[in-house]
Amino acid sequence: MRVKNKVVIVTGAASGIGETTAQVFAEQGGKVVVADIDAKGGEKNVATIKSKGGQAIFVQADISKETDAKHVVDEAVKAFGGVHILVNNAATFVLKGIEATVEEWNRSLGVNVIGTAMMTKYAVTEMKKAGGGAVVNLGSISAFCAQPDFYAYSATKAALVQMTRNMAMDFGPHNIRVNAVCPGLIITPASRNHIAKLGLTVEQYSAQEGAKTFLGRAGNTREVANAILFLASDEASYISGAYLMVDGGYAAI
Ligand SMILES: NC(=O)c1ccc[n+]([C@@H]2O[C@H](COP(=O)([O-])OP(=O)(O)OC[C@H]3O[C@@H](n4cnc5c(N)ncnc54)[C@H](O)[C@@H]3O)[C@@H](O)[C@H]2O)c1
Repeated sequence: MRVKNKVVIVTGAASGIGETTAQVFAEQGGKVVVADIDAKGGEKNVATIKSKGGQAIFVQADISKETDAKHVVDEAVKAFGGVHILVNNAATFVLKGIEATVEEWNRSLGVNVIGTAMMTKYAVTEMKKAGGGAVVNLGSISAFCAQPDFYAYSATKAALVQMTRNMAMDFGPHNIRVNAVCPGLIITPASRNHIAKLGLTVEQYSAQEGAKTFLGRAGNTREVANAILFLASDEASYISGAYLMVDGGYAAI
């Protein structure tokens, strides 16, 4: 049990990487707050966790709204007595180039960057009371590698990598570590949606993008969740302000 009795908030935990991450933390003894705008998927994940003997609650929230971010943290405290770990995983995917509208830019920045900042603002207040904690932000290979028509998304992920360093500096004196995990191609509902828009099958896209990695394949959600778990756990006690690529080597080529 690597996070026994730790209170863990995972945003975007109704689907994909966040869904699996919430399950992995619950398997490791965490008391998990599944936070998502999607109530159906969030409740389903809580039911899955509970059916395996884990502890979890669902809190519906649009993390781009400050009141919702505060509500998630308040509910975590009400249910479990505090907050020790925050996984800032929720994201919106504006996969567009120069044609992206101001509204789309605002949505991308509002959820991915400002939402992450708002969640961290309230969670860190509780971590300070608990004597420390850990934050893991979800970056991406898109923070480092150019990809066609990805400006509105990539800019937010690059911002998150730098915000991770700034947060790590500010919260270090409070024994709060802040790190980022940067996945490559992971097959999730979000990536399936993108693949469908390209007119390819998951197999075709995985083969095409997988060939650009050292391992020759796409990754799965558990491979990312394991990296998040490591950075959030005490095993990473001297790691802060870092980013860990979970991309099969994609960005190293
Ligand atoms: N899948 C990939 O290949 C990949 C690669 C690199 C990085 N990532 C990152 O991993 C994270 C998870 O991606 P995924 O592929 O699992 O996506 P996903 O779409 O499967 O899951 C994202 C979840 O976030 C929730 N969400 C969206 N907007 C929200 C909001 N405003 N408030 C609360 N919840 C909201 C969605 O409802 C959904 O449940 C994201 O940060 C993404 O940028 C994914």
